[in-house]
Amino acid sequence: MIDHPNSADSCELLQIADKASPQAEQFRIFRFRTIDSTSEYARTNSDALDDWDLILAEEQTKGRGRHGRKWFSPPEDNIYISLILKTLAPRERLKNLSQVASISIADTISELGLRPAIKWPNDILLSNKKISGILCETFSSPQKKDCAVLGIGMNVNMSESSLSALEIPATSLSIALGKPIDKNSVLKLLIPKLRRDLIQLLNLPFESFLSRYSSYCHFLGGRFLVSGDDGIKREYSALRINSDGSLAVRTESGEKNIYA
Ligand code: BTN
Repeated sequence: MIDHPNSADSCELLQIADKASPQAEQFRIFRFRTIDSTSEYARTNSDALDDWDLILAEEQTKGRGRHGRKWFSPPEDNIYISLILKTLAPRERLKNLSQVASISIADTISELGLRPAIKWPNDILLSNKKISGILCETFSSPQKKDCAVLGIGMNVNMSESSLSALEIPATSLSIALGKPIDKNSVLKLLIPKLRRDLIQLLNLPFESFLSRYSSYCHFLGGRFLVSGDDGIKREYSALRINSDGSLAVRTESGEKNIYA
């Protein structure tokens, strides 16, 4: 029996074994039918949760995205998860957490036979439409421990009609594959990859991911829209991903690096 914070509908242990590292590992998953936001729950209960605990919901009523946007989270068998991390990579690498998670997600989608792309820094696209997004929040817990919450949303079985209500072009795995997808089997592919990649980031610099990350950045060599600090979007030539994960672009006045 596992003690679990507040009111998770159920807590289970997910036993996973990755082909690359066949030792079985166990993760606690706190599963909710409906919650405001899995990331909010992880943050509020950070002291009671353990490193690598995963919060999962079937539906979120206040799912949040990057830049204060909402993340539409209907009960349509999509993935809404937040992973709490208490053993953190060195400070200068924390900004790479979501870039690294985007590689794990892209690898998972590739394993399903699709060809995902990463739009710098961490949107995952299929055929130029968003399929998954990551929100990484770092903070000090009430007990003053540094924590990160990595929130991941993935459109698994979202229908065309639900997606058409969104502001940006988006798609789902079931649309791309033409059949309903078992969300749990996607999670079983994703979680070991996340664990493997996040452990790599604890031990090695982002440079160790550079070729994998860049291989998903199909926009390199083309034009790329970047929002400036003034909120205005400008179009640049995207040159390369630098070893620290920043994006090198060519502007009218020369080359510059853009940081997420
Ligand atoms: C983005 O804007 O692209 C990031 C979206 C992140 C959404 C996920 S869904 C699970 C977790 N809980 C939230 O409230 N947000 C993240």
